[in-house]
Amino acid sequence: MEGVDDSNMIICRCEEVLLRDIITSIQNGAETLKAIKMETRAGMGICQGRTCRVLLEQAMTFYTNIDIREFNNVSYKNPVRPISLADLSQSRKDPS
Ligand code: FES
Repeated sequence: MEGVDDSNMIICRCEEVLLRDIITSIQNGAETLKAIKMETRAGMGICQGRTCRVLLEQAMTFYTNIDIREFNNVSYKNPVRPISLADLSQSRKDPS
């Protein structure tokens, strides 16, 4: 948008990556989502891209004119949380 500075918009809240970090990465030569991810850590936080992936793809499309269908080369993992065996065994006894 013209006249609006949205460079402080958060793209990845887990890793505190702003739009300007993504733009800088692209200006520094990043041509793929994987390259941006490696440089900025966007998408590598606790959500593992579940919430930020769309924003990242939109930013990449807007600032590079690369077709969004070419972004399939990035893998995203489901968010997981470690659980102790004690908690796991307890959950079986207490279904609540
Ligand atoms: S918001 Fe940070 S990894 Fe998705």
